[in-house]
Amino acid sequence: MHSAVHRMNALFTFSVLLLAVLCGAASFLDAFTSPLSSSSSYVRADAQVLRVNRFRKQLNGNDEVSLNLNVSIDMRSLFTWNTKQVFVFLAAEYATPKNSLNQISLWDHIILDKDQANFQTKVNSKYPLIDQGSNLRGRKVDIVLHWHVMPKTGRMVRDKLLLSDFHLPEVYT
Ligand SMILES: *[C@@H]1O[C@H](CO)[C@@H](O)[C@H](O)[C@H]1NC(C)=O
Repeated sequence: MHSAVHRMNALFTFSVLLLAVLCGAASFLDAFTSPLSSSSSYVRADAQVLRVNRFRKQLNGNDEVSLNLNVSIDMRSLFTWNTKQVFVFLAAEYATPKNSLNQISLWDHIILDKDQANFQTKVNSKYPLIDQGSNLRGRKVDIVLHWHVMPKTGRMVRDKLLLSDFHLPEVYT
């Protein structure tokens, strides 16, 4: 009886050890198969501002902007056997005298597999850019694509790519 329990225990220990080794190997392997920090050179993307839907001063004095963008993304290269999903978001980034970096998410999306990783779409900014005060007129805004690659096992990889920049109008619409 002692020997049966002992064998079960040994088997259990071995299974756990094997699982740990497999997960370790998967993460290790993934370090070579996923493009990691250089992934931005594998991602092809473009985003252009087609239209400024709205640019006005709110009653409280803040500037409000809403944009229409043409977005095209090819992230097929990010999908390996170990990729669970890719979270992608488009951000408007700009500097003001108060803050060196203001970042506002314009649009986000979850890509679940390689077949859906190459597409083109027109989007309206989900969250309007609202600034504290009236200093957005004529301001340069960068459109930056950010992505988080979530693996089945191993660590998450984040990266970003500057797609374009544009200047907001000098006058309200
Ligand atoms: C949107 O982008 C795609 C791919 O970059 C391009 O072929 C298309 O002409 C663009 N559409 C507009 C309205 O700019």
